[in-house]
Amino acid sequence: MRIGIDFGTSYSAAAGVVDGTLVHVPFGDQSQFRTAAYFPRELPEGDDFELTPALEDEVLALVRTSKRDQDRALRDHRQRLAQAARPNNQADRLAIPEPVVQSDDALTQQAVNTIRRRWLQEQHAREITARDSLSSAQFGEGAIDAYIDDPRGRLFQSPKSMIGFKLLPGVQEVVQTVLTSILSHIRITAQRHLGQDVDSAVVGRPVHFKSSMGAAGDEQALSILRDAATAAGFDHIDFLYEPEAAALDYHLRAADRHVVLVVDIGGGTCDLCLAQAGGAQDFVPLQSWGDATGGGDVDYWLNLLRFMGHFGRNIGTSPNHIYSEAAMVSDVVRQTTFKGYDFSDYAPPYRERLLALQAEANTVRVARAAEQLKIHLSTQAEGAASMDYIEPGLGATAQQPDLAAAASFFIARLDRLLETVQSAPFPQPSRILLTGGGSSAPYVAQAVQARYPGVALVRGEPSLAIVSGLAKAAAM
Ligand SMILES: Nc1ncnc2c1ncn2[C@@H]1O[C@H](COP(=O)(O)OP(=O)(O)OP(=O)(O)O)[C@@H](O)[C@H]1O
Ligand SMILES: [Mg+2]
Repeated sequence: MRIGIDFGTSYSAAAGVVDGTLVHVPFGDQSQFRTAAYFPRELPEGDDFELTPALEDEVLALVRTSKRDQDRALRDHRQRLAQAARPNNQADRLAIPEPVVQSDDALTQQAVNTIRRRWLQEQHAREITARDSLSSAQFGEGAIDAYIDDPRGRLFQSPKSMIGFKLLPGVQEVVQTVLTSILSHIRITAQRHLGQDVDSAVVGRPVHFKSSMGAAGDEQALSILRDAATAAGFDHIDFLYEPEAAALDYHLRAADRHVVLVVDIGGGTCDLCLAQAGGAQDFVPLQSWGDATGGGDVDYWLNLLRFMGHFGRNIGTSPNHIYSEAAMVSDVVRQTTFKGYDFSDYAPPYRERLLALQAEANTVRVARAAEQLKIHLSTQAEGAASMDYIEPGLGATAQQPDLAAAASFFIARLDRLLETVQSAPFPQPSRILLTGGGSSAPYVAQAVQARYPGVALVRGEPSLAIVSGLAKAAAM
């Protein structure tokens, strides 16, 4: 049979229509599960890396290239200086920046680091794709708990947020395997619950994936998803815009004809669909729009603004990028990079705290605490999170203005998207459906109501509207 799959950045769900009745597939005692997978194999560390003669050749080749680039920059610089030395060119001369010249030792060290990072990714790909590793994988919130219990294995959270980016060869292989294992988990669980062979699916997709490559990122993400679904045993899959699926579900429930705007706020993206819905007439989707920001971006900023200060962010001279890398827990490459830094020169107490943050599953614990604090602040004026696992007594606090600051980037993007929808050549909506986990945050309703004053807001089942629409589309 054909099912609907909402493969979300934060949570995934599946449903099917059996004898005309919509059936949600339970994952444990929930109708969705955290999009995370844990592979319990012990994985090699950076310390296990040894330079073989072949790798040494690669290091030498990298150093040669860097030196060539450096020499070229120096030659260009001398030439520009000579030109500027002609009379009346004094001002130009001052504006010519000196190229950075690094010693052979520094270039070699950088080359070794690059090769070591690549080696680690390749080793991890090999370990994870091993058959016994795949069969002992854990999924959902339990995957995160398992990783905290035993950080020697490997955790992948929100892999959807990576597949629109340029991926190094080793990383692409790992991500593909992770997606395959998650989609297999969904297919097998659905098959068991629905009591039928599940061989095809309608899979939700955001209008735009998180990506660094524009439209090419969307193409890549869809192609990775399609390949993973095939490897997971689906013979056929179709994609449907996530907000359009929610609009279809809404249409099938609405008694009277009207124009509805669906606003779906997920963990990774926000997606909107304007549609003519309800009554006896057909469902008419008018257009969908999307922006690749979501609840996870609010978590990231709350993490930087209220947690990372305790590790020295914006204090002293530590570069800001190390904190971004620590906070981006779903980015496997940035996490490996963060764990590879040497903080032994840093001043206390930040040295000890950063070393603790690199250890065990502590970046994941901090990120989870930041998300929980954000959710807490949806209904409470202030909140706190303990970081005892970093240092006894250490904790982060936040109040409403902190949440507002953390959400401001996301809200600005959502507002711009709403403005685009409003100025599109379509009739204005008379109802707005808020869906997606992120729509529970009060700032979302405020932003929507500010653009559409007086238009009635309808709240659906925030986590199930999309998968319900996908399942109904799958049954049509
Ligand atoms: N009460 C709440 N207040 C604020 N945010 C919340 C609340 N409950 C859940 N969230 C946030 O909602 C997001 C998850 O929503 P959802 O499950 O709809 O996303 P998703 O479908 O997995 O992601 P996407 O559609 O972007 O791929 C997370 O960022 C989560 O922190
Ligand atoms: Mg979603």
